[in-house]
Amino acid sequence: MHSSWFYLILLLIAIHDSQSAYGRGNQWSQYTQRPNFSRYKELIKVYEAKNLEFGFPSEEDRQKALRKELYIPDNPLPIDVDVYHPPSGEQPKIFVTIPRFGQGVPYSLAYLTNVVRPNGTELQPYPSYDWHKTHGDDCDGLTSVYRIQIDSCGKMWILDSGEIEFKQHCAPQLVVLDIATSKVVHRYRFPKGMFKPTISRFVTPYVDIADPAPKGACEEAFVYMADPTGTGFVVYDVQHESSWRVENKYTYPDPDFGTHTIAGESFELLDGTFGFAVTPRGLGLRRMLYFHSLSNDAQVAIPLDIVNDPTYWKSGINSALEHFVLLGKRGIQCAAPAMTAQGIFLCGHLEPIGLFGWDIRTPYTHQNRLLLAENPTTLQFISGLKVIRNLEGKEEVWMLSNRLQKGFSGTMNYDEINYRIAKCGVEELVFGRPC
Ligand SMILES: *[C@@H]1O[C@H](CO)[C@@H](O)[C@H](O)[C@H]1NC(C)=O
Ligand SMILES: *[C@@H]1O[C@H](CO)[C@@H](O)[C@H](O)[C@H]1NC(C)=O
Repeated sequence: MHSSWFYLILLLIAIHDSQSAYGRGNQWSQYTQRPNFSRYKELIKVYEAKNLEFGFPSEEDRQKALRKELYIPDNPLPIDVDVYHPPSGEQPKIFVTIPRFGQGVPYSLAYLTNVVRPNGTELQPYPSYDWHKTHGDDCDGLTSVYRIQIDSCGKMWILDSGEIEFKQHCAPQLVVLDIATSKVVHRYRFPKGMFKPTISRFVTPYVDIADPAPKGACEEAFVYMADPTGTGFVVYDVQHESSWRVENKYTYPDPDFGTHTIAGESFELLDGTFGFAVTPRGLGLRRMLYFHSLSNDAQVAIPLDIVNDPTYWKSGINSALEHFVLLGKRGIQCAAPAMTAQGIFLCGHLEPIGLFGWDIRTPYTHQNRLLLAENPTTLQFISGLKVIRNLEGKEEVWMLSNRLQKGFSGTMNYDEINYRIAKCGVEELVFGRPC
Protein backbone atom coordinates (compact mmCIF):
# COMPACT_ATOMS: atom_id res chain seq x y z
CA MET A 1 0.00 0.00 0.00
CA HIS A 2 1.40 3.39 -0.97
CA SER A 3 1.46 6.12 1.61
CA SER A 4 0.80 9.72 0.70
CA TRP A 5 4.56 10.25 1.04
CA PHE A 6 5.06 8.04 -1.95
CA TYR A 7 2.84 10.29 -4.06
CA LEU A 8 4.47 13.40 -2.69
CA ILE A 9 7.88 12.10 -3.75
CA LEU A 10 6.55 11.22 -7.19
CA LEU A 11 5.11 14.70 -7.47
CA LEU A 12 8.41 16.26 -6.47
CA ILE A 13 10.26 14.18 -9.06
CA ALA A 14 7.77 15.28 -11.68
CA ILE A 15 8.19 18.95 -10.72
CA HIS A 16 11.94 18.61 -10.71
CA ASP A 17 11.91 17.04 -14.14
CA SER A 18 9.64 19.63 -15.68
CA GLN A 19 11.77 22.42 -14.27
CA SER A 20 15.04 21.02 -15.41
CA ALA A 21 13.90 20.72 -19.00
CA TYR A 22 13.59 24.45 -19.19
CA GLY A 23 15.88 25.56 -16.39
CA ARG A 24 19.15 24.01 -17.46
CA GLY A 25 20.18 23.61 -21.04
CA ASN A 26 22.43 20.64 -20.36
CA GLN A 27 19.39 18.58 -19.31
CA TRP A 28 17.97 18.77 -22.80
CA SER A 29 19.54 15.48 -23.82
CA GLN A 30 17.31 13.63 -21.30
CA TYR A 31 14.36 14.09 -23.57
CA THR A 32 15.78 11.83 -26.21
CA GLN A 33 15.02 9.04 -23.72
CA ARG A 34 11.30 9.68 -23.68
CA PRO A 35 9.19 6.66 -24.48
CA ASN A 36 7.14 7.08 -27.65
CA PHE A 37 8.66 10.45 -28.30
CA SER A 38 7.94 11.87 -31.73
CA ARG A 39 6.65 8.98 -33.82
CA TYR A 40 3.66 10.13 -35.82
CA LYS A 41 2.50 12.65 -33.33
CA GLU A 42 -1.21 13.33 -33.24
CA LEU A 43 -1.72 17.07 -33.44
CA ILE A 44 -4.98 18.91 -32.89
CA LYS A 45 -6.62 19.47 -36.27
CA VAL A 46 -7.79 23.01 -36.87
CA TYR A 47 -8.37 22.98 -40.63
CA GLU A 48 -8.07 20.49 -43.44
CA ALA A 49 -8.82 21.17 -47.08
CA LYS A 50 -8.48 19.48 -50.43
CA ASN A 51 -8.34 22.90 -52.04
CA LEU A 52 -8.85 26.48 -50.97
CA GLU A 53 -12.45 27.68 -51.11
CA PHE A 54 -12.53 31.40 -51.79
CA GLY A 55 -15.58 33.34 -50.70
CA PHE A 56 -16.39 36.55 -52.59
CA PRO A 57 -18.43 39.62 -51.65
CA SER A 58 -20.99 38.54 -54.25
CA GLU A 59 -21.58 35.81 -56.83
CA GLU A 60 -21.03 38.48 -59.48
CA ASP A 61 -17.53 39.18 -58.09
CA ARG A 62 -16.74 35.46 -58.20
CA GLN A 63 -17.94 35.08 -61.79
CA LYS A 64 -16.00 38.16 -62.85
CA ALA A 65 -12.80 36.90 -61.19
CA LEU A 66 -13.23 33.50 -62.87
CA ARG A 67 -13.94 35.04 -66.26
CA LYS A 68 -10.92 37.36 -66.14
CA GLU A 69 -8.73 34.54 -64.80
CA LEU A 70 -8.05 36.50 -61.64
CA TYR A 71 -9.25 33.33 -59.94
CA ILE A 72 -7.86 30.05 -61.30
CA PRO A 73 -8.95 27.40 -58.76
CA ASP A 74 -5.88 25.15 -59.16
CA ASN A 75 -3.28 27.92 -58.73
CA PRO A 76 -3.52 29.29 -55.17
CA LEU A 77 -1.55 27.65 -52.34
CA PRO A 78 -1.65 28.78 -48.69
CA ILE A 79 1.65 29.34 -46.92
CA ASP A 80 1.21 31.00 -43.54
CA VAL A 81 -1.12 30.99 -40.58
CA ASP A 82 -1.55 33.22 -37.55
CA VAL A 83 -4.19 33.50 -34.89
CA TYR A 84 -5.88 36.40 -33.12
CA HIS A 85 -7.50 35.82 -29.74
CA PRO A 86 -10.00 38.64 -29.17
CA PRO A 87 -9.60 39.95 -25.60
CA SER A 88 -13.36 39.48 -25.18
CA GLY A 89 -12.80 35.74 -25.26
CA GLU A 90 -14.74 35.23 -28.51
CA GLN A 91 -13.67 32.50 -30.91
CA PRO A 92 -10.12 33.02 -32.17
CA LYS A 93 -9.80 34.39 -35.70
CA ILE A 94 -7.50 32.35 -37.93
CA PHE A 95 -5.68 34.09 -40.76
CA VAL A 96 -4.09 32.49 -43.80
CA THR A 97 -1.83 33.98 -46.49
CA ILE A 98 -2.04 32.96 -50.14
CA PRO A 99 0.81 34.66 -52.01
CA ARG A 100 0.57 35.52 -55.67
CA PHE A 101 3.45 33.31 -56.85
CA GLY A 102 1.58 33.28 -60.12
CA GLN A 103 -1.74 34.37 -61.63
CA GLY A 104 -5.19 33.39 -60.49
CA VAL A 105 -5.04 34.20 -56.78
CA PRO A 106 -8.13 36.30 -56.07
CA TYR A 107 -6.82 37.58 -52.76
CA SER A 108 -3.65 37.14 -50.81
CA LEU A 109 -4.68 37.46 -47.16
CA ALA A 110 -7.76 35.80 -45.73
CA TYR A 111 -9.46 34.50 -42.62
CA LEU A 112 -11.26 31.24 -42.06
CA THR A 113 -15.03 31.36 -41.75
CA ASN A 114 -17.35 28.67 -40.37
CA VAL A 115 -18.87 28.02 -43.77
CA VAL A 116 -18.20 24.44 -44.86
CA ARG A 117 -17.73 23.86 -48.59
CA PRO A 118 -16.90 20.71 -50.58
CA ASN A 119 -13.13 21.36 -50.76
CA GLY A 120 -12.78 22.84 -47.27
CA THR A 121 -13.89 25.69 -45.04
CA GLU A 122 -14.56 28.92 -46.91
CA LEU A 123 -12.10 31.81 -46.74
CA GLN A 124 -12.96 35.50 -46.84
CA PRO A 125 -10.59 38.31 -47.84
CA TYR A 126 -8.90 40.40 -45.17
CA PRO A 127 -9.21 43.25 -44.40
CA SER A 128 -11.58 43.40 -47.42
CA TYR A 129 -11.80 42.37 -51.06
CA ASP A 130 -11.07 45.97 -52.12
CA TRP A 131 -7.56 45.65 -50.69
CA HIS A 132 -6.77 42.84 -53.13
CA LYS A 133 -8.97 43.13 -56.19
CA THR A 134 -6.71 45.28 -58.40
CA HIS A 135 -3.91 42.66 -58.49
CA GLY A 136 -1.10 45.19 -58.27
CA ASP A 137 -2.66 48.42 -59.55
CA ASP A 138 -3.43 49.86 -56.12
CA CYS A 139 -0.28 50.29 -54.03
CA ASP A 140 -2.40 51.35 -51.04
CA GLY A 141 -3.90 47.86 -51.08
CA LEU A 142 -2.08 44.53 -50.84
CA THR A 143 -0.37 42.95 -53.85
CA SER A 144 1.12 39.70 -52.54
CA VAL A 145 1.44 38.58 -48.93
CA TYR A 146 3.64 35.62 -47.99
CA ARG A 147 3.69 35.83 -44.22
CA ILE A 148 2.28 37.86 -41.35
CA GLN A 149 2.80 38.18 -37.62
CA ILE A 150 0.20 39.11 -35.00
CA ASP A 151 1.57 40.78 -31.87
CA SER A 152 0.36 40.83 -28.26
CA CYS A 153 -1.34 44.21 -28.85
CA GLY A 154 -3.68 42.71 -31.45
CA LYS A 155 -1.87 44.25 -34.41
CA MET A 156 -1.12 42.35 -37.59
CA TRP A 157 2.24 43.02 -39.27
CA ILE A 158 1.78 42.29 -42.97
CA LEU A 159 4.75 42.02 -45.33
CA ASP A 160 3.65 42.69 -48.91
CA SER A 161 6.24 41.78 -51.57
CA GLY A 162 4.61 44.18 -54.07
CA GLU A 163 5.27 41.79 -56.96
CA ILE A 164 3.40 39.09 -58.85
CA GLU A 165 5.65 36.59 -60.63
CA PHE A 166 8.56 39.00 -60.11
CA LYS A 167 6.81 41.86 -61.87
CA GLN A 168 7.27 44.67 -59.32
CA HIS A 169 3.87 46.41 -59.32
CA CYS A 170 4.49 48.36 -56.12
CA ALA A 171 7.43 48.84 -53.76
CA PRO A 172 7.46 46.17 -51.05
CA GLN A 173 5.73 47.43 -47.92
CA LEU A 174 5.08 46.61 -44.31
CA VAL A 175 1.50 47.36 -43.33
CA VAL A 176 0.38 47.19 -39.70
CA LEU A 177 -3.35 46.77 -39.05
CA ASP A 178 -5.17 46.97 -35.76
CA ILE A 179 -7.30 43.83 -35.96
CA ALA A 180 -10.09 45.07 -33.69
CA THR A 181 -10.79 48.02 -36.02
CA SER A 182 -9.12 46.86 -39.29
CA LYS A 183 -7.47 50.29 -39.40
CA VAL A 184 -3.94 50.90 -40.68
CA VAL A 185 -1.78 52.00 -37.75
CA HIS A 186 1.56 52.02 -39.54
CA ARG A 187 2.87 51.66 -43.07
CA TYR A 188 6.43 51.55 -44.36
CA ARG A 189 7.14 51.52 -48.08
CA PHE A 190 10.62 50.24 -48.87
CA PRO A 191 12.90 52.93 -50.24
CA LYS A 192 15.14 52.24 -53.26
CA GLY A 193 18.19 50.27 -52.26
CA MET A 194 16.27 48.07 -49.82
CA PHE A 195 14.97 45.81 -52.59
CA LYS A 196 16.00 44.65 -56.05
CA PRO A 197 13.09 45.07 -58.50
CA THR A 198 12.39 41.87 -60.51
CA ILE A 199 14.70 39.92 -58.16
CA SER A 200 13.56 40.53 -54.59
CA ARG A 201 10.68 38.63 -53.08
CA PHE A 202 10.00 39.42 -49.43
CA VAL A 203 8.49 36.40 -47.73
CA THR A 204 8.80 36.63 -43.93
CA PRO A 205 8.50 39.43 -41.37
CA TYR A 206 9.69 38.76 -37.83
CA VAL A 207 8.75 41.41 -35.29
CA ASP A 208 10.66 41.80 -32.02
CA ILE A 209 8.74 44.09 -29.70
CA ALA A 210 10.29 45.88 -26.72
CA ASP A 211 7.00 47.25 -25.36
CA PRO A 212 4.49 44.37 -25.54
CA ALA A 213 0.97 44.30 -24.09
CA PRO A 214 -0.45 44.75 -21.53
CA LYS A 215 1.84 47.63 -20.51
CA GLY A 216 3.16 48.71 -23.89
CA ALA A 217 1.59 49.63 -27.22
CA CYS A 218 3.84 47.46 -29.44
CA GLU A 219 5.48 50.46 -31.06
CA GLU A 220 9.12 50.01 -30.04
CA ALA A 221 9.96 47.29 -32.50
CA PHE A 222 12.50 46.00 -34.92
CA VAL A 223 11.28 44.00 -37.90
CA TYR A 224 13.50 41.57 -39.80
CA MET A 225 12.27 40.88 -43.32
CA ALA A 226 13.58 38.00 -45.41
CA ASP A 227 14.35 38.40 -49.10
CA PRO A 228 15.35 34.87 -50.18
CA THR A 229 15.55 35.60 -53.92
CA GLY A 230 17.45 38.83 -53.24
CA THR A 231 19.64 36.68 -50.92
CA GLY A 232 19.53 38.98 -47.91
CA PHE A 233 17.30 40.62 -45.36
CA VAL A 234 16.15 44.07 -44.33
CA VAL A 235 16.17 45.38 -40.76
CA TYR A 236 13.51 47.99 -40.02
CA ASP A 237 13.60 50.21 -36.95
CA VAL A 238 9.93 51.08 -36.51
CA GLN A 239 10.36 54.07 -34.16
CA HIS A 240 12.89 55.78 -36.40
CA GLU A 241 11.26 54.61 -39.63
CA SER A 242 14.63 53.67 -41.02
CA SER A 243 15.93 50.47 -42.58
CA TRP A 244 19.15 48.84 -43.72
CA ARG A 245 20.04 45.76 -45.69
CA VAL A 246 22.09 42.79 -44.57
CA GLU A 247 23.60 40.64 -47.28
CA ASN A 248 26.73 38.52 -47.13
CA LYS A 249 27.92 34.92 -47.37
CA TYR A 250 25.70 33.95 -44.40
CA THR A 251 22.50 35.13 -46.09
CA TYR A 252 23.13 33.13 -49.29
CA PRO A 253 21.91 29.75 -50.47
CA ASP A 254 24.33 26.82 -50.72
CA PRO A 255 24.08 25.17 -54.18
CA ASP A 256 24.51 21.76 -52.50
CA PHE A 257 21.10 22.36 -50.90
CA GLY A 258 19.38 23.68 -54.02
CA THR A 259 17.41 20.47 -54.53
CA HIS A 260 14.57 20.15 -52.05
CA THR A 261 13.04 16.73 -51.71
CA ILE A 262 9.78 16.23 -49.85
CA ALA A 263 8.15 12.82 -49.67
CA GLY A 264 10.09 11.65 -52.73
CA GLU A 265 9.31 14.64 -54.97
CA SER A 266 11.97 17.23 -55.71
CA PHE A 267 12.09 20.83 -56.81
CA GLU A 268 14.91 23.31 -57.37
CA LEU A 269 15.26 26.61 -55.54
CA LEU A 270 18.26 28.76 -54.72
CA ASP A 271 16.74 30.73 -51.88
CA GLY A 272 18.70 32.77 -49.37
CA THR A 273 17.48 34.09 -46.01
CA PHE A 274 14.06 32.70 -45.31
CA GLY A 275 13.09 32.82 -41.64
CA PHE A 276 14.00 34.27 -38.26
CA ALA A 277 13.65 33.86 -34.54
CA VAL A 278 15.10 35.86 -31.66
CA THR A 279 16.26 34.96 -28.17
CA PRO A 280 13.30 35.43 -25.82
CA ARG A 281 13.55 38.21 -23.27
CA GLY A 282 14.12 37.36 -19.62
CA LEU A 283 16.37 34.32 -20.04
CA GLY A 284 19.53 36.19 -19.05
CA LEU A 285 21.17 35.42 -22.40
CA ARG A 286 22.75 37.83 -24.88
CA ARG A 287 19.94 38.24 -27.34
CA MET A 288 20.55 36.91 -30.85
CA LEU A 289 18.77 36.97 -34.20
CA TYR A 290 18.66 33.40 -35.51
CA PHE A 291 18.25 33.02 -39.24
CA HIS A 292 18.82 30.57 -42.04
CA SER A 293 18.48 30.28 -45.80
CA LEU A 294 15.92 27.89 -47.23
CA SER A 295 18.44 26.38 -49.66
CA ASN A 296 21.19 25.89 -47.10
CA ASP A 297 21.71 23.68 -44.05
CA ALA A 298 23.61 26.28 -42.02
CA GLN A 299 22.01 27.77 -38.92
CA VAL A 300 23.37 31.25 -38.27
CA ALA A 301 23.01 33.86 -35.53
CA ILE A 302 24.05 37.45 -34.95
CA PRO A 303 23.70 39.50 -31.74
CA LEU A 304 20.67 41.80 -31.79
CA ASP A 305 22.70 44.75 -30.49
CA ILE A 306 24.83 44.49 -33.65
CA VAL A 307 22.11 43.84 -36.21
CA ASN A 308 19.92 46.62 -34.74
CA ASP A 309 22.69 49.23 -34.95
CA PRO A 310 22.73 50.86 -38.41
CA THR A 311 26.34 52.06 -38.04
CA TYR A 312 27.57 48.47 -38.60
CA TRP A 313 25.95 48.07 -42.01
CA LYS A 314 27.71 50.54 -44.22
CA SER A 315 30.33 48.34 -45.94
CA GLY A 316 28.23 45.93 -48.00
CA ILE A 317 29.18 42.26 -47.79
CA ASN A 318 32.04 43.02 -45.39
CA SER A 319 29.77 44.62 -42.79
CA ALA A 320 30.06 43.20 -39.26
CA LEU A 321 31.19 39.87 -40.69
CA GLU A 322 33.11 38.92 -37.54
CA HIS A 323 29.90 39.11 -35.49
CA PHE A 324 28.06 36.35 -37.36
CA VAL A 325 28.08 32.94 -35.69
CA LEU A 326 27.76 29.75 -37.72
CA LEU A 327 25.97 27.63 -35.09
CA GLY A 328 26.11 24.40 -37.02
CA LYS A 329 24.95 22.51 -40.09
CA ARG A 330 21.94 20.25 -39.96
CA GLY A 331 22.54 18.33 -43.21
CA ILE A 332 19.01 19.05 -44.43
CA GLN A 333 16.85 22.09 -45.19
CA CYS A 334 14.37 23.44 -42.70
CA ALA A 335 11.56 25.84 -43.51
CA ALA A 336 9.77 28.27 -41.18
CA PRO A 337 11.24 28.62 -37.68
CA ALA A 338 9.64 29.77 -34.42
CA MET A 339 10.78 30.29 -30.82
CA THR A 340 9.09 29.38 -27.53
CA ALA A 341 9.27 31.69 -24.51
CA GLN A 342 11.69 29.26 -22.83
CA GLY A 343 14.14 29.29 -25.72
CA ILE A 344 13.24 26.20 -27.70
CA PHE A 345 13.86 26.92 -31.39
CA LEU A 346 11.41 25.07 -33.62
CA CYS A 347 11.71 24.27 -37.32
CA GLY A 348 10.11 21.81 -39.73
CA HIS A 349 12.79 19.70 -41.43
CA LEU A 350 12.34 18.24 -44.91
CA GLU A 351 13.68 14.80 -43.88
CA PRO A 352 12.52 13.20 -41.71
CA ILE A 353 9.30 15.13 -42.24
CA GLY A 354 8.53 16.68 -38.90
CA LEU A 355 8.94 19.45 -36.40
CA PHE A 356 12.27 19.62 -34.60
CA GLY A 357 13.11 21.46 -31.38
CA TRP A 358 16.48 22.73 -30.20
CA ASP A 359 17.24 24.35 -26.84
CA ILE A 360 19.23 27.49 -27.73
CA ARG A 361 21.41 27.02 -24.62
CA THR A 362 22.92 23.87 -26.12
CA PRO A 363 25.25 23.40 -29.11
CA TYR A 364 23.38 23.13 -32.43
CA THR A 365 24.19 19.45 -32.94
CA HIS A 366 22.30 16.41 -34.16
CA GLN A 367 21.84 15.08 -30.59
CA ASN A 368 20.37 18.38 -29.46
CA ARG A 369 17.84 18.67 -32.27
CA LEU A 370 14.89 16.60 -31.15
CA LEU A 371 12.14 15.35 -33.39
CA LEU A 372 9.06 16.59 -31.50
CA ALA A 373 6.42 15.66 -34.04
CA GLU A 374 6.90 13.46 -37.04
CA ASN A 375 4.31 12.80 -39.67
CA PRO A 376 5.22 12.09 -43.29
CA THR A 377 1.63 12.62 -44.46
CA THR A 378 0.28 15.57 -42.56
CA LEU A 379 3.45 17.62 -42.13
CA GLN A 380 4.61 17.76 -45.75
CA PHE A 381 6.23 21.15 -45.80
CA ILE A 382 5.53 23.15 -42.68
CA SER A 383 5.43 26.52 -44.38
CA GLY A 384 3.81 28.53 -41.59
CA LEU A 385 4.87 28.12 -37.97
CA LYS A 386 3.94 30.27 -34.97
CA VAL A 387 4.14 30.10 -31.20
CA ILE A 388 1.00 31.79 -29.91
CA ARG A 389 -0.04 32.58 -26.36
CA ASN A 390 -3.73 31.88 -25.87
CA LEU A 391 -6.03 33.80 -23.52
CA GLU A 392 -5.19 31.45 -20.64
CA GLY A 393 -1.55 32.38 -21.08
CA LYS A 394 -0.61 28.95 -22.43
CA GLU A 395 1.77 28.77 -25.37
CA GLU A 396 0.61 26.84 -28.42
CA VAL A 397 2.44 25.89 -31.61
CA TRP A 398 0.40 26.44 -34.77
CA MET A 399 1.51 25.16 -38.12
CA LEU A 400 0.31 25.19 -41.69
CA SER A 401 1.46 22.48 -44.10
CA ASN A 402 0.86 22.69 -47.83
CA ARG A 403 2.63 20.00 -49.93
CA LEU A 404 4.63 22.70 -51.67
CA GLN A 405 6.49 20.09 -53.73
CA LYS A 406 3.22 19.13 -55.46
CA GLY A 407 2.33 22.75 -56.03
CA PHE A 408 5.67 23.31 -57.76
CA SER A 409 5.49 20.21 -59.89
CA GLY A 410 1.78 20.50 -60.71
CA THR A 411 1.01 17.10 -59.19
CA MET A 412 -1.46 18.22 -56.52
CA ASN A 413 -4.21 15.64 -56.16
CA TYR A 414 -7.39 17.46 -55.19
CA ASP A 415 -9.07 14.25 -54.04
CA GLU A 416 -6.73 14.27 -51.03
CA ILE A 417 -6.27 16.61 -48.09
CA ASN A 418 -3.48 18.96 -49.21
CA TYR A 419 -3.64 21.86 -46.80
CA ARG A 420 -3.70 21.57 -43.05
CA ILE A 421 -3.55 23.75 -40.00
CA ALA A 422 -2.77 21.95 -36.76
CA LYS A 423 -1.73 22.93 -33.27
CA CYS A 424 -0.34 21.54 -30.04
CA GLY A 425 0.61 23.03 -26.67
CA VAL A 426 4.31 23.86 -26.38
CA GLU A 427 4.66 21.82 -23.17
CA GLU A 428 2.90 18.84 -24.72
CA LEU A 429 5.23 18.93 -27.72
CA VAL A 430 8.42 19.43 -25.76
CA PHE A 431 7.65 16.78 -23.13
CA GLY A 432 6.14 14.31 -25.59
CA ARG A 433 2.68 14.30 -24.07
CA PRO A 434 -0.56 14.03 -26.06
CA CYS A 435 -1.58 17.40 -27.53
C1 LIG B 1 3.29 4.22 -26.94
O1 LIG B 1 2.20 4.47 -27.81
C2 LIG B 1 1.39 3.32 -28.04
C3 LIG B 1 0.36 3.69 -29.11
O2 LIG B 1 -0.17 4.97 -28.90
C4 LIG B 1 0.77 2.87 -26.73
O3 LIG B 1 -0.02 1.73 -26.93
C5 LIG B 1 1.87 2.55 -25.73
O4 LIG B 1 1.32 2.24 -24.48
C6 LIG B 1 2.80 3.74 -25.58
N1 LIG B 1 3.94 3.39 -24.75
C7 LIG B 1 4.37 4.15 -23.77
C8 LIG B 1 5.56 3.64 -23.01
O5 LIG B 1 3.85 5.20 -23.45
C1 LIG C 1 -12.63 21.75 -55.62
O1 LIG C 1 -11.34 21.86 -56.17
C2 LIG C 1 -11.21 21.30 -57.45
C3 LIG C 1 -9.73 21.42 -57.86
O2 LIG C 1 -9.39 22.77 -58.02
C4 LIG C 1 -12.12 22.00 -58.44
O3 LIG C 1 -12.02 21.40 -59.71
C5 LIG C 1 -13.53 21.94 -57.94
O4 LIG C 1 -14.35 22.70 -58.79
C6 LIG C 1 -13.62 22.46 -56.53
N1 LIG C 1 -14.97 22.26 -56.02
C7 LIG C 1 -15.72 23.28 -55.64
C8 LIG C 1 -17.11 22.91 -55.20
O5 LIG C 1 -15.34 24.44 -55.64
